[in-house]
Amino acid sequence: MAVLVTGGAGYIGSHMVLRLADAGESVVVLDNLTTGFDWSIDPRATFVAGNAGDMDLVARVIAEHKVDAIVHFAGSIVVPESVADPLKYYGNNTATSRNLIEAAVKGGVKHFIFSSTSAVYGSAGLEPVSEETRLAPESPYGRSKMMTEMMLSDVAAAHPITYGVLRYFNVAGADPKQRSGQSAPNASHLIKVALLAALGRRADVGIFGTDFPTPDGTGVRDYIHVTDLVEAHALLLQYLRGGGRSTTMNCGYGRGYSVRQVIDTVKAVSGVDFKVVEQPRRAGDPASVVAKSDRVRQVLGWRPAHDDLTEIVTAAMNWERYLATRNR
Ligand code: UD1
Repeated sequence: MAVLVTGGAGYIGSHMVLRLADAGESVVVLDNLTTGFDWSIDPRATFVAGNAGDMDLVARVIAEHKVDAIVHFAGSIVVPESVADPLKYYGNNTATSRNLIEAAVKGGVKHFIFSSTSAVYGSAGLEPVSEETRLAPESPYGRSKMMTEMMLSDVAAAHPITYGVLRYFNVAGADPKQRSGQSAPNASHLIKVALLAALGRRADVGIFGTDFPTPDGTGVRDYIHVTDLVEAHALLLQYLRGGGRSTTMNCGYGRGYSVRQVIDTVKAVSGVDFKVVEQPRRAGDPASVVAKSDRVRQVLGWRPAHDDLTEIVTAAMNWERYLATRNR
């Protein structure tokens, strides 16, 4: 029995591989290394280079390793890029997932865990969103993930497979043991960008929009530590293997921080007062996205251990410093 982790060389996937290997699971990583790094794959896992949408390859991996569960991280994740290049997102996210799901069904895989996103909700208002909130994605990225959620629901109704969809809010931080972290040099997400400015590797940080209907006018997000996020996946896998029904769950803490609050935290943690430039809104960005996370807590018994923005930023900064020594 083995778990196939697609995108296991990427940011979140590599943390999941660590979590599974720490628990003694047999893990196979499938990654095409377009955005991931082979050095970030835990050596306890078997690495297969290739595309998650390559049905022949996936069929061979499933049969050879007796895969009973797939955790599907591989995909593209940048909201504004999806607005500029929607077909990339419908290819890498929707079409690839479709092929992977078909290979899973044909190969007799029992459980499928899918990385979805809070972007499926769009601008749901300032209140936290529950899983019952109507889906209204505002970007091709959000729509590409929503379509995969729909496919999974239809496929699980027709075939003997159960699934878990986890809708991630804003994932940040790094492995507390410093074995992995956000390593993409041009990652565009806020905490990474602010840290690069704090470490003198960028001139400034832009605030994309100061006229949102939020308390300080900047975008509000629910930042979740990557280690808490992968813990939810591990609990979900246990639940599905134990006969749990297919489910969809938000993964966030249920509280939001504005862009200004995040920048202030990065300044406080780093001790560097880097330059901040107010800019117009970015395409596809909702004002506020905060999770209602009762379901993951109640059904899986998930108890976050790192729900603290200062801890999240500190972990990310330590990883950034480590990367700088690695790249020297
Ligand atoms: C992020 C994820 C997305 C995920 C979503 C879930 C990335 C690249 N994207 O999107 O995959 O589905 O969370 O909620 O990780 N901002 C600035 N200046 C910057 C960068 C960002 O002001 O230089 C602002 C944005 O406008 C936004 C907030 O910071 O209000 C967070 O942006 P970002 O970190 O890019 O993540 P999301 O777009 O929310």
